[in-house]
Amino acid sequence: MNDYGTRTDPHAQARAARQTPLLLHSLSCFREVFEVVYAHRPISTVVEVGVESGQVSGIYTELGARAVYCVDPAPTESLRAAIAGNPALHLVEERSPDVLPHLPVADLYVLDGDHNYATVRAELDWVLANAPDAVAVLHDVLWPCSRRDQYYLPSRLRPEDRHPSSSEGPTAWHDELTRAGFVGLGAFTCAQEAGGERNGVLTAVEDALTDGWQLAVIPAIFGVGVVTRDEALLDALRPYRDSRLLYTLENNRIALYTRLLQLQFDAVAHAENADSMAETIAGQRRELDRLATEAADLRAEADELHRQNERLRAQLDERPASLANRVLRRQ
Ligand SMILES: C[S@@+](CC[C@H](N)C(=O)[O-])C[C@H]1O[C@@H](n2cnc3c(N)ncnc32)[C@H](O)[C@@H]1O
Repeated sequence: MNDYGTRTDPHAQARAARQTPLLLHSLSCFREVFEVVYAHRPISTVVEVGVESGQVSGIYTELGARAVYCVDPAPTESLRAAIAGNPALHLVEERSPDVLPHLPVADLYVLDGDHNYATVRAELDWVLANAPDAVAVLHDVLWPCSRRDQYYLPSRLRPEDRHPSSSEGPTAWHDELTRAGFVGLGAFTCAQEAGGERNGVLTAVEDALTDGWQLAVIPAIFGVGVVTRDEALLDALRPYRDSRLLYTLENNRIALYTRLLQLQFDAVAHAENADSMAETIAGQRRELDRLATEAADLRAEADELHRQNERLRAQLDERPASLANRVLRRQ
């Protein structure tokens, strides 16, 4: 239930807004879409590929699944804790797609692991061939992964399945990758070029669809794809499917977020610039102090020389008189 606030609690919506992460990225936001799936299909077994913190895994059991196989080769501590607290969740510390044939056939496959063509295509090919009654829900079917591969572990892929990649990231503000874009910060890299064949998640899903399997795209939070042969389910997803409103909100969200990334990048660059200017100024100040000390020493030395000079001059002034005296005495 949405909280729109009341006359006596007018800040409820703003409170809710500041409690959500600045960048929504998790499938946990799609609970109501999973509710639609569960309302149309008996979902007892779920295979969840790409689990991260485990904040979505519990939703599948809350909605009625008896077993969820949580596949993630790099489980975090919070994922281990979430799984330890729910006996219906089973951690599978392996990589998809290799592990899929070794798990029970599921009613629902949630594919949100390595977002590149080769991985997603192999996952979906296996699901469509071996679980003909299943529903597959894929995350990141839209920007930035729709037409551009992302690689968590490119070294696991055959060379012909990898595009040249970069640690720079995409932005909504131009077509090239940039250091100020949506970067993986060591977790993943991006294909240098977008588009073409065998590149991106949406391209993989399009190429995998056969035999009456259809794709419904929900254009929110990096895009969710529901792949099913169930016409009634596709019909029930109609309010979300290709929603122009969601698409507009999503485009605005990625534009705002990548503008924020650019501003952060610029702020860090300015701060680094200011730091280096401060260091230069401090160095110049130290040099000025050293020169001032040197000048004071030289001034003191000059004063001393001046005094010595005065003394010598005084002695010299005395000398001609005594010479004259000696000359006078001789006469
Ligand atoms: C985007 S996160 C998943 C987020 C999660 N589904 C959610 O919505 O909150 C991607 C996860 O996929 C995992 N991953 C990467 N490659 C994988 C693979 N080949 N098989 C399974 N998981 C993979 C990563 O370790 C990471 O935890």
